[in-house]
Amino acid sequence: MILVTGGTGLVGSHLLLKLTMDNIKVRAIYRTQKKLDSVKKIFSYYSDNATALFNKIDWVHGDILDIPSLENAIEDITHVYHCAAYISFNPSDFKKLERINREGTANIVNICIAYGIKKLCHVSTIGTIGRPINNEKVDEETEWTLQNANPYAITKHLAEMEVWRGAQEELEVVIVNPGVILGPGFWNSGSGSFFKTAAKGYKYYPPGGSGFITINDVTNIMIALMNSNIHNERFILVAENLTYKQILEKIAVAMDKKPPAKALKFWQLKIGKFVDKIRNILTGSPRTITKNTIHGLKHPTAFNNEKIKNALGMEFESLENQIKFSSKLFISEL
Ligand SMILES: NC(=O)c1ccc[n+]([C@@H]2O[C@H](COP(=O)([O-])OP(=O)(O)OC[C@H]3O[C@@H](n4cnc5c(N)ncnc54)[C@H](OP(=O)(O)O)[C@@H]3O)[C@@H](O)[C@H]2O)c1
Repeated sequence: MILVTGGTGLVGSHLLLKLTMDNIKVRAIYRTQKKLDSVKKIFSYYSDNATALFNKIDWVHGDILDIPSLENAIEDITHVYHCAAYISFNPSDFKKLERINREGTANIVNICIAYGIKKLCHVSTIGTIGRPINNEKVDEETEWTLQNANPYAITKHLAEMEVWRGAQEELEVVIVNPGVILGPGFWNSGSGSFFKTAAKGYKYYPPGGSGFITINDVTNIMIALMNSNIHNERFILVAENLTYKQILEKIAVAMDKKPPAKALKFWQLKIGKFVDKIRNILTGSPRTITKNTIHGLKHPTAFNNEKIKNALGMEFESLENQIKFSSKLFISEL
């Protein structure tokens, strides 16, 4: 039987959908009843039998920071997909990020070792891939350093270190490092913000860019890697390197909105950072523009995706269809 952590999130829910469609026996951890409704909503996007598929999942109440709940969840499990994480770029969230991402992953690794799990697939991020020295594309071997790293990337790097420790202790592991994942349903987090921004028809786009991939590719690759003999490797999952202007344009076109035409200048971002900080002090609202985010916008990284393509003999699907599909759902839920 397979265990999925983070099954109520974007990656985990789509992974559960594929596994249940393939009639794979699967257990998943959930924290609150309300989040189970998000999974039902995701399933309903793709299937008329959403409830039947959802009911195939053995849901176990738990938390990756609660070891007894993990001991309960791991019974009869052979393979684990670890998708649970906390995503925030707010420096004041560092402690929470460190607990969920590093300590939570350490707990998963320890439980996998203790219960003789055959293979662990860990979901990391391109944030743990090193930055380029010149303008070359980075790959899985590019050295990662703490310099200018945001709190999320730091804690995801520490999480990967826990997974490599597991590999040293004879646990078979595979790590995926996806770029921004395009998929529907979670409009307030991750790539959801691109859909929200494009829908508002803002005039401005931020400088810089990132690597992008569809949710479909991410989950298919995770399953293919899990079912392969490949282990103790990490893989960048980026279908295309795009500027933020390009991605916002694609989504705006799919939504029949006017694409943003003016670039935000760095001095405007610096003022934004100041206003953001004051708002954080006065209202406690999360910070969205920090020194590290501005540095990231100034120095965008392009990612080399050859390793996964060669390992699985695959090509990435184009982003366009996923953008159209997600945009349509976004508009229907307004
Ligand atoms: N979305 C992206 O664009 C993107 C890009 C690159 C990498 N990633 C990585 O992909 C993975 C999945 O991300 P996602 O987009 O699916 O995130 P998400 O939608 O925010 O989902 C996060 C999941 O983690 C669970 N979780 C958080 N803290 C937990 C805890 N203490 N115990 C148990 N479960 C916990 C959440 O449960 P609740 O529902 O109960 O909160 C939720 O199921 C993460 O490792 C993330 O770092 C995401």
